[in-house]
Amino acid sequence: MFNGGSSVIHEVPRTAMRIPLRRLCERSLQTPPTPSEGVQLWVAQLDCLQPVLDTLANLLTRDEADRATRLRIPRVRAQFVMTRGWLRLLLSRCVDISPHQVPIVYEPGGKPILCRSVNREGWHFNVSHTDGLAVFALARRARVGVDVERVRPMANAVGLVERFFASEERETFRALPDALRLQAFFCAWTRKEAFLKALGEGVQSFERCAVTMHPSEPPCVLNFDGDRQVAQRWALGCWEPAPGFRAAVAVESFGPPTYLVVVE
Ligand SMILES: CC(C)(COP(=O)(O)OP(=O)(O)OC[C@H]1O[C@@H](n2cnc3c(N)ncnc32)[C@H](O)[C@@H]1OP(=O)(O)O)[C@@H](O)C(=O)NCCC(=O)NCCS
Repeated sequence: MFNGGSSVIHEVPRTAMRIPLRRLCERSLQTPPTPSEGVQLWVAQLDCLQPVLDTLANLLTRDEADRATRLRIPRVRAQFVMTRGWLRLLLSRCVDISPHQVPIVYEPGGKPILCRSVNREGWHFNVSHTDGLAVFALARRARVGVDVERVRPMANAVGLVERFFASEERETFRALPDALRLQAFFCAWTRKEAFLKALGEGVQSFERCAVTMHPSEPPCVLNFDGDRQVAQRWALGCWEPAPGFRAAVAVESFGPPTYLVVVE
């Protein structure tokens, strides 16, 4: 079921433990491991066969199915259905409840979370999907956020940075050579969004946080609302979940923040 007849979902491998996340890669997975400690990252390809879509659609609640119906563009609708279906499968293994019945509730800012009544182990999760790919992050007792973007030409990257990024990021970006700007833009965008999603915030808070943005710099939150201690409390990682895509994950860190650990 997890590979749906073709490889549609992957997990970052166990051998990746204690390797900086930006150096991770994926392998296909036949049998899903049981979640335990650490941060799990899953990647799902969303352009796949109708039977897989139908199977995943059957896992959605009535509210989710209604939401899917309101999405008019078929590909967008299919992506929502598949992402939510995979999410329910992953969460069902965390809380040992059938996928359809996993109670997902929403924070005031719209972040989906597990209902506390079934979440004795303190699971946190976050999801991002774009253009045929979904990324899932699961962590125990630590807030987590994830973002994935297709790296694509951005004619207005400079304008977006000037309008939405923090002042120190704007300065860094202006000083970059043209050849690095597109990569730096997507590094920063995914890092910021992953961090803000971990907090349950949205893109309206982009200016409140600053991250490292040079592609060769270790991913790091530099400040949030002027607080520079935030780097000690949050681990940030980025990687390429598929060719042409960039993803970042932010995890609340209660130990040394340099590395994230992925455990099967
Ligand atoms: C949340 C947000 C950053 C997502 O960005 P995006 O690039 O469009 O979408 P992504 O694919 O990365 O993430 C979408 C997923 O994140 C999750 N999500 C939704 N809202 C979220 C939030 N506030 N925080 C964290 N995760 C959120 C959902 O699982 C969603 O998947 P779904 O649409 O299939 O349910 C963006 O939609 C946003 O800024 N929303 C505004 C939130 C806001 O203003 N809240 C305050 C209102 S009081």
